Amino acid sequence: MRLTSVLSLCVCTVVLGFTQMTMAASPKGNPDAGKKIYLESCQSCHGPTGKGDSDMAAYLTPPPANLTAKATQSKTDAQLRRTILEGRPGTAMSSYDGAFEESQLVDLLAYMRSLRQ
Ligand code: HEC
Repeated sequence: MRLTSVLSLCVCTVVLGFTQMTMAASPKGNPDAGKKIYLESCQSCHGPTGKGDSDMAAYLTPPPANLTAKATQSKTDAQLRRTILEGRPGTAMSSYDGAFEESQLVDLLAYMRSLRQ
């Protein structure tokens, strides 16, 4: 009897944890909220519409990525997320690890996907 209740507690915890995980990952994010974050943190390099055409771009080698282009849009969310979190060593793309809440990251990705040409 005791063992069963311990077991059911375990199962319950796992199920709860899983539900939380899927709940955090499933909503598609809010592109409008993501746009705000983008305009604050990213447009200085990637340009107002993500095309990599900021004033700063001329001074950067390699230049900021055109986020609307196929080269970027064909990457998975996980790949884009990783670049944002880890940055790209040797380029101006720095790490944003810890800069955003999970929900902000999801919003940011939703906005980036809305730029797909
Ligand atoms: C200081 C300039 C700068 C800022 C600010 C900046 N980036 Fe970048 N970003 C770059 C550069 C330069 C590259 C290109 C690196 C390369 O060619 O490998 C890049 C690459 C990327 C890539 C990879 C694209 C690909 O196809 O692999 C993503 C995604 C990205 N940036 C997103 C962002 C987001 C989101 C923000 C804001 C949170 C941001 N960047 C802010 C300079 C910047």
